[in-house]
Amino acid sequence: MKLKESLLSRRWFLTGLIGGAITALTAYIANPMVRFLFHKKKLPLPKAVKIAIADIDKMAANSASYFRYGYMPAILLKTEEGDLRIFSAKCTHLDCNVQYKPDTKKFFCACHEGYFNDLGENIQGPPPKPLPEFDMTIEGEQLVVSFDEKKNNNHV
Ligand code: FES
Repeated sequence: MKLKESLLSRRWFLTGLIGGAITALTAYIANPMVRFLFHKKKLPLPKAVKIAIADIDKMAANSASYFRYGYMPAILLKTEEGDLRIFSAKCTHLDCNVQYKPDTKKFFCACHEGYFNDLGENIQGPPPKPLPEFDMTIEGEQLVVSFDEKKNNNHV
C-alpha cells in the first residue's frame, strides 16, 4: 500500500533537523560553562610540593616568592631575620591574590585594600581571617611544603 501524501513533509523534516542541530550545538557549548559555574567539588591538592633550598638561599631577606600549590597560589616569605613562612596567596575576603610589600612588611590585597602582617594575620580592611599557612619540613636539599586543610578551616 502506498500513501498518496507523506506523513512528514520535507519542510518539517528540515525544520526538525536544523532545530535538533541547534539544540545539540547549544548543549555542547553550554555544558562546560554550566559545569564550571555550578561545580562544587574541590580539586584535590597535592600532598606536598618541593622547593630547592638553593633557590631559597638566593632570595633576598625581606622578600617573597610566589609558587603554585596545585590550583592554590602560595607565597613564600623570607623575613629579614631569614625565617621562612608560607601562606596561601588568596585573600580570605574574596580570594584576590595578595602581594608582599617589603617596605611595610605586610601582605596587601589590592581588591579592597586588605592588609595582613608578616605572620599572615588580618590587620586592616575587610579580610575576616588570617591567611592560611602551609607546613614545611626540610628533606635533604629540599623544602617540603604541605597544606593541612583541616588546620586551616578548609579555607582553600
Ligand atoms: S578580596 Fe582581599 S580585601 Fe577583598
